[in-house]
This record gives sequence, C-alpha cells and structure tokens, in this order.
Amino acid sequence: MNAPAAPFDRRRFREVLGHYPTGVVVVTGIADTGEPVGMVVGSFSSVSLDPPLVSFLPSKTSGTWARLRTASSFCVNVLAADQEHVCRQFAAKTGDKFTDVPWRLSPSGAPLLDEAVAWIDCDFDAVQEVGDHLMALGRVRDLGVLDPRPPLLFFQGGYGGFSPGALVAPYESDLLNHIRVADIAREHMEAVSADLGLECYAQCIVADEIVVVAGSAGARKNTVHGHIGRRMPFAPPYGALFVAGRDDKAIDAWLSRRNLPLADEDRDHYRRALRRAASRRWSIALRAPEHDEVWDEIDAFSTAQRTPELERRVGALLERLKEHYEPDALDPDRRHDVRLLGAPVYGRSGDVVQVLTLFQMPPRASVERIACWRDRLVRAADAVTAAIGGRPPQAP
Ligand SMILES: Cc1cc2nc3c(=O)[nH]c(=O)nc-3n(C[C@H](O)[C@H](O)[C@H](O)COP(=O)(O)O)c2cc1C
Repeated sequence: MNAPAAPFDRRRFREVLGHYPTGVVVVTGIADTGEPVGMVVGSFSSVSLDPPLVSFLPSKTSGTWARLRTASSFCVNVLAADQEHVCRQFAAKTGDKFTDVPWRLSPSGAPLLDEAVAWIDCDFDAVQEVGDHLMALGRVRDLGVLDPRPPLLFFQGGYGGFSPGALVAPYESDLLNHIRVADIAREHMEAVSADLGLECYAQCIVADEIVVVAGSAGARKNTVHGHIGRRMPFAPPYGALFVAGRDDKAIDAWLSRRNLPLADEDRDHYRRALRRAASRRWSIALRAPEHDEVWDEIDAFSTAQRTPELERRVGALLERLKEHYEPDALDPDRRHDVRLLGAPVYGRSGDVVQVLTLFQMPPRASVERIACWRDRLVRAADAVTAAIGGRPPQAP
C-alpha cells in the first residue's frame, strides 16, 4: 500500500524550481476586439521539428490569456537582457502594455516587437488542460532573428543575462584602462594619505560593479592591500558620483540594479541624493550601525558567484544604509562620524571615470575638519583629472 502523500508544499515547489533558469518571451496576439494583447511567459518551449511546433503554458486564471485565446494567431517575442523594463510592463495586470514598445504586425497578423531578439510566428494548433495551467501548442508559420544579442534570463526570482565563459575580454580591457588611470592617480593619492594620515582608494565601474583598483595609506601601507580588488554592487546608495548628472536611462539602470523593487518614495529619495552629489561634486557617507554587517556581506559579494539571491540579500542591507549616504548639510553644532568622502576624477567628455575615496576617518569630527578632508581630496581628484586630460562637465 502506498504511504499517504505528504501535504504538498507549494512554496518549496516554487523555490526549488526557481533554481532552474528560463528565458523570457512576450507572447502577443490581436484579440477579437481588435486590441493588441501580450503576456510574459517563462514556460515557452520548442516541441517538435516535424511538424514545427512550440508550446507555452498559460495559467487558467490569466486575464491576458483569456483575450489572447480569441486571437487567430500568436507571435513569440524573445526578450533581450536589456529589456527587463519591457518584461515588467508585460507582466503587469494593468496599464497599457504596449506604451513605448514599438511593434509591427507579423506575417500572421500578431504584434511583433521591433526590439525583440527573435520572433516565432504561430497558428494555434491545440490547447490542452494540464493541472492549473493550459498547454498551448503553436504551429510555426514563420520565424526570424532581429538582433542576436544576449537574452533576458529569469532565475531565483530575479533577472539577469547570459555571459559566455570564454568571453571575459571586455571586462579585462575595461579594467586595464582603469588601472592606467589609477597608476597616474597614485602619487596624488599618496600625497593625500601623507597629508591627512588617512586611507585613500580609487574606485571605478567595471561591468556594473564598483571595483577598488588602487589604494594608499601613508605610513600604514599594509592596511590597503585587503581592499584592492574589492567589488561592490553599483546600485543605490553606492556610487552616486558615477551617476549624478547623467541621463534618465543611466539613473534608472542604477535604481533598478538590485533585483529588488523600489517604492516610488525610495526612487525620489535617491534622485534627491543624486542631485545633491551632482551639485556638490563630492560625496559623503556617514557611519551607520549596519556598516560592519554590510561590509561582511560585501566581502562575500567580492568573491562569490553573483546570483539574484545574493543580490537581493546585499540589496536589502544596502537599503538600510540609504539615509546615511549624501545627507543634506551637516549640523555645524554637532560632531559627525563620517564613513567615507568621495571626489570625482573626470575623463575627456566630462564623465566620471574614477572616484577617489577617503576612508578610516576618526569618529566625532567637526564640520570644519570634515570640510578640510574633503577639500584636500577634491584637490587631489582635480589634479588627476588634469593629468589624464579630463575636464569637469559644464555647470548645469
Ligand atoms: C518571468 C515571468 C514568467 C512568466 N511566465 C508565465 C507563464 O509561463 N504562464 C503564465 O500564465 N504566466 C506567466 N507569467 C505571468 C504573466 O506574464 C503576467 O503576470 C500575466 O499575464 C498578467 O496577469 P493577467 O494575465 O492575469 O492579466 C510570467 C511572469 C513573469 C514575470
């Protein structure tokens, strides 16, 4: 006799299966009302070559599917890694999903997204019940590749891209340029450390991460080595100087880089912080009780394979630091614990190529003392800007 089945754990089912990655497509059609409809689908699959069949699994409760089912054909649009915003728009239950998403009609008469990686145009072949979902089989009529860039992937409840193991060259060539700049910056950083008795680091952006490429510590030379090569997420509140003053696209990318949804008020908070950093042209973070805990996680982040789960964990910690970064003017009647001060090094087109960062400042500093550290750091960063032939952007 079979043992009675244990009560089924839905959460565990989702969690375990979330470790299997899927691609992300938008399945579109023109409903019998004439309106274009589309839904995000992770269950798309190639089924048969002869005859050419594909499938996807709409949920029985999907309102979009109810309308898509009335279409005479459907088109599968493969999303690219840089189309997470399109994915979120088509996964929403409300709103016009086609806003700002250019499309045309496929040969069968279904919406074909202009910026998709590839498209597969189908007639409905069969729709079959499978548990709480349906299996929609499509017979392929026509298909094509529009732009063979890396696809969007869904894994552990987060989004990411595909990076071929053998193609590390772009990362390295980025890094090499930064090492050259850091080499020029070195003498200026060492002068700062000697003058102030503080550690100074050069940080840059490599492949969506902040990387520490050089450091100086005056007389305490040995203390910097552990930090060189440290990688941090280039996500709020970190790295404000690299994004401050850039266009909306760069700012939105920064705001959405943690696999964590941000509330509108948080986005506004960070936009205000960016405006402050842009007009000051320096950056400040005050010490938070959480800093040591975050630092340990960042250590894990430096060495670990990045996964959505790790990003969410680090992201949640970073969120707790947010009030401490780029605060408004400091109260001159109080003393302050400063975690770090940053000053930008500008490249030829006025973009921030590196940030010099002062670290390990003594606690309870007066506003005058903090201004003195900051001014010395800004002078060093300006000297590096001049030495590499860069220039600050025009004042807005
Ligand atoms: C990554 C991802 C994969 C999804 N895969 C499917 C799927 O395979 N089948 C499905 O019915 N819904 C899937 N959805 C949900 C729908 O895209 C979307 O939320 C839904 O169409 C909107 O709800 P509605 O159809 O009830 O309006 C997926 C959503 C995301 C974000």
